[in-house]
Amino acid sequence: MIDENKLLNGTKVASEIRAEVADEVRELSDIGIRPRLDVVLVGDDPASQVYVRSKAKTSAELGMRSETHILPADTGQAELGALIDRLNTDDEVDGILVQLPLPRGVDSSTILDRIDPAKDVDGFHPINVGRLQQGRPLLVPCTPAGVMELLRREGIDLKGRRAVVVGRSDIVGKPMAMLLLHAHATVTLCHSRTRDLASVTREAEILIAAVGQRALIGAEFVSPGAVVVDVGMHRVTDRDVVEHLYPGNEKKMAAFDKRGAVLCGDVDTTRVAPIAGRITPVPGGVGPLTIAMLMANTARAAKLRRGRPS
Ligand code: GUN
Repeated sequence: MIDENKLLNGTKVASEIRAEVADEVRELSDIGIRPRLDVVLVGDDPASQVYVRSKAKTSAELGMRSETHILPADTGQAELGALIDRLNTDDEVDGILVQLPLPRGVDSSTILDRIDPAKDVDGFHPINVGRLQQGRPLLVPCTPAGVMELLRREGIDLKGRRAVVVGRSDIVGKPMAMLLLHAHATVTLCHSRTRDLASVTREAEILIAAVGQRALIGAEFVSPGAVVVDVGMHRVTDRDVVEHLYPGNEKKMAAFDKRGAVLCGDVDTTRVAPIAGRITPVPGGVGPLTIAMLMANTARAAKLRRGRPS
């Protein structure tokens, strides 16, 4: 079992952020502004459907408006582009999120480039990417922004410390490295092809695992006392694998027997937690923060568009 005192509680921090956004939305509503998030889902990927539903539900809970646009998997580039154009020019819409991955046949970059940067609550538009790199961010990608909030609210000092990010995706790894750099950490960005990855990650005082490989980060990757943030999310459906990852963990086995799967991250938490100083669990770590930050970004977009920078 993981020492509870070591856990970085994403669920708790996410609920604090949601409460703050709800307050902000109430204040905006009082002056006639009710932020609206429009989510676009193309196709019928079950995981994407779950994420999209949860975005709509959370928006409603925080008093925001939301619309979900569901398009068939064979929707063409032009048709999707036309929807984006319509949402860009609709003054009622504050935030636009196109759920990824898009089906084959649609070029994601072309679509993401088409979103008005002021409504780009994912922070994926080149303008938002460039603004982040220059240290004058407008809308920042939700998952890395959530990790920064977690570290800040848990009192983890970053200034001058060694941070290692494993994974170089546009959604997490690259913006994560930028945010840590702007917070004055000394940042190494490495990935699955880094030679002797463990020797690089052992340098980390703050280790962010966002590489997309189940339990890749084992004990030999982590130095004693390191803060370990696990961005990975993998469904494990093989009982032997669950037994290997969580030996003697009755709670995990019971969850597996009930649902036929458990979630696991990029970190082998059972073996890393005894070494780490602090660690995020999966589930209940980074996951809940992503949607909380999407809500924060939507409120921010609503304000920015009306010349009310927060
Ligand atoms: N699919 C997985 N993560 C994300 C995300 O952060 N934003 C969008 N739009 N799609 C995703």
